[in-house]
Amino acid sequence: MLENQRKSKDGRKLYIESYGCQMNFSDSEIVASILLDQGFQTTPDYKEADVIFVNTCSIRENAEQRVRNRLKEFGAAKLRNPGMIIGVLGCMAERVKAKFLEEEKLVDIVVGPDAYRDLPNLIRQVDDGQRAINVILSREETYADISPVRLNSNGVTAFISIMRGCDNMCSFCVVRFTRGRERSRDPESIVREAEDLFRNGYREVTLLGQNVDSYKFKDSSGRVVNFANLLALVAEVNPELRVRFSTSHPKDITDEVLHTIAAHSNVCNYIHLPVQSGSSRVLKLMNRTYDRDWYINRVDAIRRIIPDCGISTDIITGFCSETEEEHQETLSIMDYVQYVYAYMFAYSERPGTLAAKRYDDDVPEDVKKRRLQEVVDKQRAHSALRLQHQVGKVHKVLIEGFSKRSDKDFSGRNDQNSMVVFPVTGNFKVGDYVNVIGESCTSATLIGRIVS
Ligand code: 5AD
Ligand code: SF4
Repeated sequence: MLENQRKSKDGRKLYIESYGCQMNFSDSEIVASILLDQGFQTTPDYKEADVIFVNTCSIRENAEQRVRNRLKEFGAAKLRNPGMIIGVLGCMAERVKAKFLEEEKLVDIVVGPDAYRDLPNLIRQVDDGQRAINVILSREETYADISPVRLNSNGVTAFISIMRGCDNMCSFCVVRFTRGRERSRDPESIVREAEDLFRNGYREVTLLGQNVDSYKFKDSSGRVVNFANLLALVAEVNPELRVRFSTSHPKDITDEVLHTIAAHSNVCNYIHLPVQSGSSRVLKLMNRTYDRDWYINRVDAIRRIIPDCGISTDIITGFCSETEEEHQETLSIMDYVQYVYAYMFAYSERPGTLAAKRYDDDVPEDVKKRRLQEVVDKQRAHSALRLQHQVGKVHKVLIEGFSKRSDKDFSGRNDQNSMVVFPVTGNFKVGDYVNVIGESCTSATLIGRIVS
């Protein structure tokens, strides 16, 4: 009887949905790997799942609200299928902890980002009729030995997580509380993962960390590998493997890293360098540990060392006590850098953060929104301008798939991370590099044709 029960559990179907940053999507691939080892299969349809996992984000209040709404839909599916297990993973699980089980009666499992190895055990507890929680954060866990199962993969591009947690103390940010202390992953396991991906046909990896520039690992021979060293190691896996990385921190990005990018043609000329604000006073309140001049100095270094580098950013509008003049400083730093892309947000106070404890969230909502709109409008103009500069030039593009609109067009990205769409011709296939001449552009896409 017991054996039968166990057998009937084999082949259970897992549905996993991810919110938030790339790191969360990457974590879901580790979670899938852990459960596939237990005999689970993944399914793209939550309605037929035995286990639903939501990998959540806490960065802004609306990210959490979206998850709460989605849980209602999963709850309805569970009413139809009472054996279904619903688990909340990731940052929101870590932030809300056991309260989740009180607040959301349909949730069976709550598990934080460092406790995924415990999932088989937590599922067993639920099978035994309990609800289960593990939100213990670790100083060591990097999941280095777990080979991620590539979910929703195009077979060409993949994420590799190189570190976890964050030791910065940005006053607006909840990540310090949800992802724990910073730790770097063994470089050998990172290189091995890149080699495996290349062998399996992948042609681009993105190295992920909250702050990749503070990557540091002391190997068994006592050699310290920093981020520049790691970047070179991964670039040397194969010249046909493109290497990207995210996120860089303005206080930590070194000229050594910039020279490493310049020295390797397969390390993409693209840096995501969150500025958050253009005002030195606001940056100080945000505890970003750099000021406007420092940031501009880093941008100048990028321009000097990697002349055609694309730079993107994150911007927050309406942080506590931000004045109209300080908002203008954000607009003027945007004019200075002319970002290729930006992620832009109105400030959202998060419980427990330094800003929530120390400062009044005193910029009225309508003012935050209006400032955000000004930032968005400016960015739209800059993105268009940057794309127009690329018309008439030839770009090396990695074909990632077909365009969303038509399978008569390929889509891929150039070195600077711009999306490029061009007609399918010749024998080229997904995963090939092609030279594409830019002929025109829309607001977000370069349109061209293959020239070789
Ligand atoms: N409110 C608004 N935006 C935030 N971010 C982080 N915390 C907050 C917050 N409390 C933004 C920052 C960060 C990006 C991932 O999200 O710009 O770089
Ligand atoms: Fe969201 Fe930040 Fe957690 Fe990523 S690390 S999922 S952005 S809260």
